[in-house]
Amino acid sequence: MTILGIDIGGSGVKGAPVDTVRGELLGERFRVPTPQPADVESVVDAVAEVAATFEGFDSVGVTFPGVVVDGVTRTAANVHKSWIDAPAAQLFTDRLGKPVTVLNDADAAGAAEVAFGAGRDESGLIMMVTLGTGIGTALFLDGVLLPNTELGHLELDGKDAELIASDRVREAEDLSWEKFAHRVSKYLRHVEMLLSPRLFIIGGGVSKKADKYFPLLEIRTPVVAATLLNNAGIIGAAVSAEQATTGRGGQHPGSIPVDASRPGTPGAAEAHSVNAGEAR
Ligand code: BGC
Repeated sequence: MTILGIDIGGSGVKGAPVDTVRGELLGERFRVPTPQPADVESVVDAVAEVAATFEGFDSVGVTFPGVVVDGVTRTAANVHKSWIDAPAAQLFTDRLGKPVTVLNDADAAGAAEVAFGAGRDESGLIMMVTLGTGIGTALFLDGVLLPNTELGHLELDGKDAELIASDRVREAEDLSWEKFAHRVSKYLRHVEMLLSPRLFIIGGGVSKKADKYFPLLEIRTPVVAATLLNNAGIIGAAVSAEQATTGRGGQHPGSIPVDASRPGTPGAAEAHSVNAGEAR
């Protein structure tokens, strides 16, 4: 079975076929710029354009930068408001003619990191934080995802945290690495106080520059950079699509079955387990 992963990001819509056992891309990624405005119709066109460059795939996983429940997109902080309550999984499935699973972008990236990257072999509560256009979060307890956590919107100094510590803000305000590290530390300490995770995995574009600001972070919880970099969303989306199509993921040793994971329905993977053992 060949599965395509497609990541809808702030600047690009990227896709590739994925080896869901190894957690690797099976070929070159294809990317088109994210349409502006990023309304439903234009983004569905962009996803279809990416998918059309690949052949012979059986199902598709798509990431979305907002809350996704049962394949329906519920919020649209950094995309066009037409996405609020859009039946995304159905729209993509109709357009691509293949089963499509849609899940939150940070959930997808976190799922990939926990199965194949920086969170491999880690148990307990792990939090993925993506610093990009916004701040995305994903929580995993012993490899099982608690979907749609949206902790990038916690209030910090009376403001939405993603308006203070995202990579977009770092660029827009031309922040020094010291200032950026100070803001990210403040955000992570707030989350640490609330949840006491065992590990933070930091992803998003800025994870490539981890050496510039990680040494400046002031926080007790261990912090590591995501290792799958730009491909985490694509890989996580494909793994979710596979789990939704085959029903894998909930019934394997080391993973906890999650009721909300209903195999075979578009968008079934909002709640799914990431079984690192199975992936190797
Ligand atoms: C959205 C999240 C998303 C994050 C990263 C936030 O603004 O609310 O759902 O994961 O941006 O794209």
